[in-house]
Amino acid sequence: MRLSLNTIFLALALAHLLVAPANANVWGQVPKRPLLKRATVGFHRSALRHSAGLARDLRVAFRALGRNHSTRASLAGRDNNDSKPFCVSNPSGIQQHPNTTTNSHSTSPGSPTGTKHGSPSSTSTSAPSASGTSQSNFNLVQSYSGNTFFSGWDFFTGGDPTNGVVQFVDQSTAQSNNLISINDAGNAIMRVDTTPQVSGNRASVRIQTHFSFTGGLVIMDSVHMPTGCGSWPAFWTNGPNWPNTGEIDIVEGVNDYTNNQATIHTNVGCQLPSSNVTALGISGAIVGGTNCAALQTGNEGCGVRASQTNSFGAAFNNNGGGVFSMLWDQSGVAVWFFSRGSIPSDITAGAPVPDHWGTPSAFWPATTCNPFQFFQNHGVIFDTTLCGDWAGSVWTATGIPGQEQSCAQRTGVATCEQFVRQNGAALAEAYWEVKNVQIYQTKS
Ligand SMILES: *[C@@H]1O[C@H](CO)[C@@H](O)[C@H](O)[C@H]1NC(C)=O
Ligand SMILES: *[C@@H]1O[C@H](CO)[C@@H](O)[C@H](O)[C@H]1NC(C)=O
Ligand SMILES: *[C@@H]1O[C@H](CO)[C@@H](O)[C@H](O)[C@H]1NC(C)=O
Ligand SMILES: *[C@@H]1O[C@H](CO)[C@@H](O)[C@H](O)[C@H]1NC(C)=O
Repeated sequence: MRLSLNTIFLALALAHLLVAPANANVWGQVPKRPLLKRATVGFHRSALRHSAGLARDLRVAFRALGRNHSTRASLAGRDNNDSKPFCVSNPSGIQQHPNTTTNSHSTSPGSPTGTKHGSPSSTSTSAPSASGTSQSNFNLVQSYSGNTFFSGWDFFTGGDPTNGVVQFVDQSTAQSNNLISINDAGNAIMRVDTTPQVSGNRASVRIQTHFSFTGGLVIMDSVHMPTGCGSWPAFWTNGPNWPNTGEIDIVEGVNDYTNNQATIHTNVGCQLPSSNVTALGISGAIVGGTNCAALQTGNEGCGVRASQTNSFGAAFNNNGGGVFSMLWDQSGVAVWFFSRGSIPSDITAGAPVPDHWGTPSAFWPATTCNPFQFFQNHGVIFDTTLCGDWAGSVWTATGIPGQEQSCAQRTGVATCEQFVRQNGAALAEAYWEVKNVQIYQTKS
């Protein structure tokens, strides 16, 4: 039964791809979960890092159709070997922040699905505060802003494991090529090379904090993020031993998308307890499966698309940006987005109280994914790549929020790579402008 339903759905998706590439909205519909699992069968080498958006999954399904699905096991086996995990450990060695993890974070598997965040009846998600003098249970332990923003980050210079047409450059190269700077507003800029035409890769920047942590709160305020056909920015956290130590994508999307996607990628054993967003207590929409194990699902991960249409891309930028927040505590991992006009005052005041923030966009509860087992020693990362496994593969896709018309239609160029190489000026919006990144730890 499942198989035939899948087949029908795949066939519909394919028919849409082949017959009506310009419009309609097959993409926008919530997929049947088994389809997505199946869709990842052929998705072996690419995108070890990034979760699949619906459209990409369908593209993958499209490619996978030519394959014999009984090869799934062998493909999965190869995954473990000949794909380079994107999230390679910091070559200089990440050190765990000494006192961030306790052993008392065990979860209670029998307890109901977490709906803590945003639930008025929820109990405290954090250790009780020592006194009533401050409502915030968090201490700021790292802050990156202003002229010293770029102190405390490693500049990754390896090849892009997601196969983008970028070359990540070191700090001095980035500076001398004006790819990084601090602007007059005191905000950090990270750009891609906009030389009119290049024959190979464009220079870009990927940075990761020296500081690492297990559990805590990350708050990032930006006024602009990379957008436009070909772009694929991400703000995320990652451990040293992927996927064993997990990956949390806080901000991510491609091309002209307008809704942020937050995703976790983990070792085997972590899942979402439900795909029912009401039961999960989130405002976003599940875009993939509920098994978050990277190597069991072609690295689909557990992705959640934010409901706000100004949470990503041009709409985000036109609204003056906003704040993304990721809380990793014993209740699970949660992500919130606040547009510029609705940033909670406790965040602005530097005394965050997540219990006051309402329903998160995304939440992966501890009940089915122990956040201190599946995530460890994360550093914070910004990167911008171009094309590659996600932005490139949905180049001709339509019907994703913000990309109702495909980039192929919009640009008149058949492939992402061709467009990006020959139209540097079109990448002028592919930059981050970040006010600050703050990392908090719970008060002990
Ligand atoms: C797939 O492979 C299996 C095992 O080799 C075989 O029995 C089956 O007929 C194949 N299916 C297709 C569609 O080729
Ligand atoms: C993966 O690599 C390990 C060691 O490098 C090897 O023992 C194993 O057979 C490989 N697995 C596959 C499926 O190639
Ligand atoms: C870390 O924890 C240990 C033992 O719990 C304690 O002795 C030490 O002072 C703590 N260090 C910091 C920086 O809090
Ligand atoms: C989703 O969960 C809510 C709350 O638990 C429940 O009331 C609702 O019936 C569920 N919806 C579906 C389709 O199962």
